[in-house]
Amino acid sequence: MPERLTPEQSYALVSKYGSPLYVYDETLVRERCREISGLVSLPFFAANYSAKANTNIELLKIIRSEGLRVDAMSPGEILAETAAGFQPDEIFFIPNNVSIEELRFAAERGIMTSLDSLSQLEQYGKARLPRRVAFRLNPGVGAGHSDKVVTGGKSKFGIETKDVRRVQELAARYGLSIAGINQHIGSLFLQSNEYLQAAATLFEIAAGFPELAFLDMGGGFGVPYHGEARLDLEELGQKLTRVIQDFISKYGREITIMVEPGRYICAESGTLLGTVHSVKENYGETYVGTDIGFNTLMRPVLYDSWHEIRFFTASTERRRLTITGNICESGDVLARDRELPLPAPGDLVCIANTGAYGYSMASNYNLRLRPAEVLIDLSGQDRLIRHRDTYQALMRNMLDEALYLCQ
Ligand SMILES: Cc1ncc(COP(=O)(O)O)c(C=O)c1O
Repeated sequence: MPERLTPEQSYALVSKYGSPLYVYDETLVRERCREISGLVSLPFFAANYSAKANTNIELLKIIRSEGLRVDAMSPGEILAETAAGFQPDEIFFIPNNVSIEELRFAAERGIMTSLDSLSQLEQYGKARLPRRVAFRLNPGVGAGHSDKVVTGGKSKFGIETKDVRRVQELAARYGLSIAGINQHIGSLFLQSNEYLQAAATLFEIAAGFPELAFLDMGGGFGVPYHGEARLDLEELGQKLTRVIQDFISKYGREITIMVEPGRYICAESGTLLGTVHSVKENYGETYVGTDIGFNTLMRPVLYDSWHEIRFFTASTERRRLTITGNICESGDVLARDRELPLPAPGDLVCIANTGAYGYSMASNYNLRLRPAEVLIDLSGQDRLIRHRDTYQALMRNMLDEALYLCQ
């Protein structure tokens, strides 16, 4: 685990902001932004941050200040991005299965939208919405760390290659101009073969669309959670540069070519701190019970994801541990069978690489409060960037009458 937070610093942060707590490292977010911006050194190359990974407005501001643009999956993300200072032409709306009202929400703000199916393209065409649009291609090849996040090939996403002809027909029927094509084959690859293969398909398809302003090859750039070799960005950048140059020379003019990583930008910057509340033996297993339920960090339960875990404890006795949260489900397990020092109640637990798909997937399940988020800025100072939920806010959304209970 990277030595970003010392035990002393972690105890101080938790006593100041509460437990559990997400903590982000600004220096690392900026470093990752620069690596992605420098992936391809062509003047028409652009990096879009995929905000679903982490939509904290302060992080979005940092990412914008590094010159990245942003994508959005929903009106809520558009609002957060706008609050962070992104201009309409820096936001790309790529939703799936949305209502006309949601499409209008983006259009009224002058934001370019991508349609994810022929069905949505047709609805869009019939509605009184801007004529310049994009569509999402499903290039037939996927990659990712779990079936749940492989989006190329057999999945609900995009328009398959054999239906691209129908995109052209619908565009002609409704007077639409196809300004962009985007794709995303899945999340977390550490080898880039499929990404390059999919990019080749995208460029092939793009040749049939003469009015393009941009192409978006998608995100999915992986980070090592479990000691794997890092993604070789230099090699990927060189290969991408070659295929992009080749495409541009055949296409006959320069258009914007984008990538769209989320996880790569912020996963490693985040550490989740929590507190051990109990230690017990049940039928031969040692359970460490913490306050980090799957409402706070969902990845282990949803994807069987592996995160490095450490206890800040005085204990030296090592044991095989099952580390759990505080949610009322037996599946609420952060990690199984980890040999670690046996902590005691009150010790801190520290979970690495939780800056992406951590807070953004958190919920109020069991009516638990989502934690606060804190930024360690460039000078090493901590700053609150999102308040912990309050019981008042939880109750207000359901029943104002329940508010008196919170006083
Ligand atoms: C359309 C789209 N673009 C980009 C991303 C970002 O993926 P990642 O965080 O793996 O880079 C996603 C994530 O699923 C996505 O759905």
